[in-house]
Amino acid sequence: MPSRNDVYYFGAGPAPLPTPVLEQASKVLLSYNDSGIGITEISHRSSDANAILAHAQSSLRQLLDIPESDGPDGYQILFLQGGGSGEFSAVVYNMVSMWVAKRLKALGGDEAKLKEEVEQKMKLDYFVTGSWSLKASQEASRLVGGESVNIVTDSRKHNDGKFGVIAPTESWTQTQSEQDTVLTYYCDNETVDGVEFQSAPSGANLVADMSSNFLSRAVDVRKHAVIFGGAQKNIGTTGITIAIVSNSILPPHAEMADPKLLRKLGLPIGPVVLDWPTIAKNNSLYNTLPIFDVWIAGQVMGRLLDQSPSANPRIAGQEAESNRKAQMLYKILDESPIYHVVPDKSVRSRMNICVRVKGGDADAEKTFIKGAEARGLMGLKGHRSVGGIRISNYNAVPVAAAEKLAKYMVDFANETK
Ligand SMILES: Cc1ncc(COP(=O)(O)O)c(C=O)c1O
Repeated sequence: MPSRNDVYYFGAGPAPLPTPVLEQASKVLLSYNDSGIGITEISHRSSDANAILAHAQSSLRQLLDIPESDGPDGYQILFLQGGGSGEFSAVVYNMVSMWVAKRLKALGGDEAKLKEEVEQKMKLDYFVTGSWSLKASQEASRLVGGESVNIVTDSRKHNDGKFGVIAPTESWTQTQSEQDTVLTYYCDNETVDGVEFQSAPSGANLVADMSSNFLSRAVDVRKHAVIFGGAQKNIGTTGITIAIVSNSILPPHAEMADPKLLRKLGLPIGPVVLDWPTIAKNNSLYNTLPIFDVWIAGQVMGRLLDQSPSANPRIAGQEAESNRKAQMLYKILDESPIYHVVPDKSVRSRMNICVRVKGGDADAEKTFIKGAEARGLMGLKGHRSVGGIRISNYNAVPVAAAEKLAKYMVDFANETK
């Protein structure tokens, strides 16, 4: 039976966690702070739980240089449940509500004119650059109707029906009027397709899904209205979702629409547990928060801070390591003709490296995976919707794991020909 030391895991999520964090976790599960009570047993409203929450929030603030102020320039850090998919819906509920309240005010309370605007002008802009942004845009269409969803770009139209590119800026069809734009949505890193934005696009009320590249590089937080991501790849255990939300779209700096008005307009009203103003007002403790998951995230973030005590921003050390590992792996893939990196070079993800072996030959890919597993290199199978090989190069994948995989890929290429 293999032990943890015998394997390296490259799964796409849930993903590896640092072993020291898991070792400590096994202790606190039995007794937190020598109290004799386990961490999953303590109240989410206890002082211990509050300290865990504050530590995770302040660590994230330092790592990504997230402005802290009560003014409109500040950002709230929210912990929610419902995963990245829950936020696909939350983004629509919250931002539509905020847009409606803002337009009602601008129209001097004229509900008839507002109804006209909702039907004829209101637009939610989506960049569809892979499977996850596609899903998010489909959720928006389900909630507010396809007429209100503007697909700024669909990468498949520029790449023979497949994801793998981000089309040039000139081809993007963003909603021209900022006033009509409820949100501009993009997925920073497409986990299934291995496509990563090299820098954030611009747009009104910018929303980013960073589920699979959170904390792997510096982020221009100030450019965004919202950044969200599930914890289970780079940050922690499955169970919490983090949302970094600008004060400028939260009360008291912004109003939300009265649910009665939303009902009249035929617009959706989200569940209260996805309502950012409610979660922000209650410091993420509106309902029972899985504090163990927050603790894990805090431990992972604490290690990143320790790793780069003088970097600016503090995530810079991890960013350099992520880049080095990815560059090493791509170099080997580019050097051997038996490998073919699926996405275009200009949009290659540093986190999810999608590869075909021998042009997608099923036997060769099976042999590759089998050989890797024999060396303790696990979790390399591509997503079931696209097949092939996917190397997930998250933060907790050690340099030694990437080096061992690199060596295997060279050996495999030499043996296969
Ligand atoms: C980029 C991205 N967004 C959203 C999701 C959905 O997350 P969840 O499964 O937590 O709903 C995933 C899941 O892998 C993802 O990779």
